[in-house]
Amino acid sequence: MINLWDYEAAAKSNLTEMLWNFYAGGAWDEVTVRENVAAFAQLYLRPHVLNNVEQRNLQVTVLSRPLRFPVAVSPTAFQRLAHPNGELATVRAAASLGTLMAASTFSNNSLEEIAAARDAVNKLAPLWFQLYPLRDRGWVRTLVQRAQSAGYAAICVTVDTAVSGRRERDLHTPLTPPADMVLGNFSDFPLKMDTHSLIQHVTNQVDPSFGWQDIRWLRSITSLPIVLKGILRGDDAAKAVDHGVAGLFVSNHGGRQLDGAIPTIRALPEVVAAAKGYAEVYLDSGIRRGTDVLKALALGARCVFIGRPAVWGLSVDGEAGVRHVLELLGHELSLAMALCGCASVAEIDRSLVA
Ligand code: FNR
Repeated sequence: MINLWDYEAAAKSNLTEMLWNFYAGGAWDEVTVRENVAAFAQLYLRPHVLNNVEQRNLQVTVLSRPLRFPVAVSPTAFQRLAHPNGELATVRAAASLGTLMAASTFSNNSLEEIAAARDAVNKLAPLWFQLYPLRDRGWVRTLVQRAQSAGYAAICVTVDTAVSGRRERDLHTPLTPPADMVLGNFSDFPLKMDTHSLIQHVTNQVDPSFGWQDIRWLRSITSLPIVLKGILRGDDAAKAVDHGVAGLFVSNHGGRQLDGAIPTIRALPEVVAAAKGYAEVYLDSGIRRGTDVLKALALGARCVFIGRPAVWGLSVDGEAGVRHVLELLGHELSLAMALCGCASVAEIDRSLVA
């Protein structure tokens, strides 16, 4: 396994067709899935030479918390489908490398179990709770309070899922999770139903009427910083800053929501410009190489996240697989920095990208 493509190929050959389709799939014609990756290749690097790059420092801070390197794990649902240890394997991998993981609302392990696994490995590695805006604001309030009590560092609200994108692979091979699969965060909720109905019910709970006033409300019920995941425009970025949002996460959900949505690396500069330094900016969707990370940092991202590649690692080798995927990207970034004449992340700037 020498790069992320090897993990993709191994995951594809290990997984059932149904699971592969669930992970790989995007909305409609999957144009955005492909373009997310292709758009990085359309940007070229303008390396400096003759800088001393013998020692490289990849450390960054995210919402004032240090990460050993600027690659984190995006929230993905139902990780036990990929590996029996599910989110616990992923969080151990991220925490052991001193980086951040965002835990999904629809995790199999509860947010408390995920936090405890992090604590056992490395208390200093930050965790975010990814929040789907649910219709029942009582549930939302409870989840946010639980995340705050469990020591999460931010609430990352996914805002690109007003409705579910139509992923046609999932219509060809419908996802049928095993009957004993639990939704860890909802086990205490008064819902007596089988797994399939529960998942349907909870995913139908995502609220298409959720709006900017609800962001204001979220801020009123928690002291944790709010990050909005799914920002693709400068005007929305500016509005988010006006609403006191601390982080803008440039994402198109890995092409799983709106097909034809702009590749994130193309949207990044306008979001960074609109944030004017009042909010941090992050990016996911299509990161597969250390040079992709470098390009995103050069264009103003504070760190990047990976969705599918972490799941590939998880399905191939559990915790060790996720760790190796993250390490590969870290090593590639370090090498790319050296070849660009950058000894630290602070030296990576806009001028590196043409
Ligand atoms: C996701 N994504 C996602 N996002 C989110 O906010 N909450 C979630 O529960 C999920 N679940 C999920 C499941 C699977 C199987 C995938 C592939 C993706 C989107 C995810 O956080 C991220 O934005 C994309 O995966 C990033 O694109 P790449 O890295 O997969 O290209």
